[in-house]
Amino acid sequence: MDATETVNGALPGPFAGQSMNCAACHLVDQQLEAAGGGMRTYSDFARRSPIPQREDGNTHAVRNSPPLVNASLPRRGGPLFHFDGEFATLHDLVKDTYAGRNYGWLPGERAQAIRHFAAMIRNDDGSGELAQEFGGAYRVVLKGTDPSIPDELRLPEEFRVDVDTTSDEEIFEQVTRITVSYVEDLQFSRDDEGAFNLSPYDLFLKKNGLPPQPRKNESNEQYSKRLLRKVKRLRNPQYVTPADGEFAFHDQSFEFGPTELEGMKLFFTRAGRGRRSQRKAGNCVACHSAPDFTDFALHNTGITQFEYDGVHGEGAFERLFIPALGVRNSNPLAWLPATEAHPNALEPLRAIPSAERPGETDLGAWNIFANPDFPDPQKKLRRLFCLEQLQALLRTPRTGGHRKHPCGESALLDRSIASFKTPGLRDLSHSAPYMHNGQLDTPEAVIGFYIDSSEKVRDGRLRNPAPGLAGIRLEAEDIEPLAAFLRALNEDYE
Ligand code: HEC
Ligand code: HEC
Repeated sequence: MDATETVNGALPGPFAGQSMNCAACHLVDQQLEAAGGGMRTYSDFARRSPIPQREDGNTHAVRNSPPLVNASLPRRGGPLFHFDGEFATLHDLVKDTYAGRNYGWLPGERAQAIRHFAAMIRNDDGSGELAQEFGGAYRVVLKGTDPSIPDELRLPEEFRVDVDTTSDEEIFEQVTRITVSYVEDLQFSRDDEGAFNLSPYDLFLKKNGLPPQPRKNESNEQYSKRLLRKVKRLRNPQYVTPADGEFAFHDQSFEFGPTELEGMKLFFTRAGRGRRSQRKAGNCVACHSAPDFTDFALHNTGITQFEYDGVHGEGAFERLFIPALGVRNSNPLAWLPATEAHPNALEPLRAIPSAERPGETDLGAWNIFANPDFPDPQKKLRRLFCLEQLQALLRTPRTGGHRKHPCGESALLDRSIASFKTPGLRDLSHSAPYMHNGQLDTPEAVIGFYIDSSEKVRDGRLRNPAPGLAGIRLEAEDIEPLAAFLRALNEDYE
């Protein structure tokens, strides 16, 4: 906790000398003034978040800490959390975080973690800096009746708990519910109609009378198509210039000009079919549909292969042995993530790749799908991977070994290899580095990666690619306008 890790070193930590908390990895303005720091949308600065040291020897979380702003947007079919879809509710995620590895607890220590958690709440004496500012000791704030609590800080009744008469489990439950409510409130700025309204992109839509969000009953995908048609028909686009605003927390001018517009068209142009399949297209919108810039689904972009081959050599990931469903599930200790039910599992395929440990990497949702230790997200994952499987079969009707039962469990497990959740793309400058493994530092690097990755797909050199990747047809000259467009999605989040 003493330092905030960045991609170039470390900054003095805002919580030095204290124990773990959510904000250590999900920062906002704690490092705003520090050189090498800045504003964050509740993420950190590290490629992978540092974690408390324990006997397992792990020093970092397997993944990059994602932004929490917009993370719990409501969506059709309900949410999935974590890059691999491990959690079907925020409530489960928060409990498993407080009692999990990011807080220093090993699998199998849940009961002890909850006892400790309740003791921390009960024994707090209110002398901490935040306690002094926000109403005193936990026991007082949580009970919610003391006249000394200012009205605006008084907890609504549904969240109150008397820590002197309540069980450890119940304290844990109530504090979890408070944490969930806090995270659910984290969203980018919107107007009274619920449309995002603060980035130069949003202002561009407004200035040109373009629709800012889907109509009732219109999907994000349909909306994105409609928006592109309208943008292409703009005769005399009204650009956003620095006269329209100014960024306080970004080193860039407040702008949506011709370059951003060119980037927007590339972003929204979908892969052509038939004779038009060679046309230039970003196809980004196939997975990052507006206005949230995510489809809330999971896909393999090739970033796992990129990192693994970077460590073990070109082609290594394609040769990596990955067990099929029966083999995997009959030996969870050898193949699956460690859980309360299997605390000693080795989890080689939910690991950080390293030269010393060939064969170890992170296959994302493959660890969760059809894994009996994670019953809750299964229905949703099955639906998402079945959709993607059918899409893949449409593209290459003669290939693929699962033609008879395309949505059977075993076929979908193979489909899930190296799949991760699509992130939203608003305010990216406040959540670098990018991807689940934090391997790419700038929007330019991400776009360059997609150019490379889509070429690999067309050459048949990417293992289990998402069907949407082959449609990306971009060249080096497209990087600049696309990156400018992504930066136009920045906003001054506070
Ligand atoms: C040690 C660093 C660390 C701490 C402490 C931490 N997180 Fe995280 N958080 C992460 C990482 C890393 C991920 C990505 C995990 C993954 O995808 O497997 C994550 C993911 C999440 C997500 C999922 C976002 C999404 O879009 O799916 C939420 C929500 C979240 N954290 C909330 C919290 C809350 C609330 C707390 C405190 C109870 C907390 N985190 C504490 C590092 C941390
Ligand atoms: C097949 C679906 C798909 C397509 C097409 C796609 N993306 Fe992505 N994108 C994803 C997924 C999934 C991730 C997360 C991957 C991971 O972390 O393993 C991602 C991550 C990103 C990130 C990193 C965001 C972050 O917070 O880490 C950026 C930026 C991005 N995509 C931009 C683009 C652009 C620009 C295009 C078009 C050139 C594009 N994407 C096309 C699915 C897609």
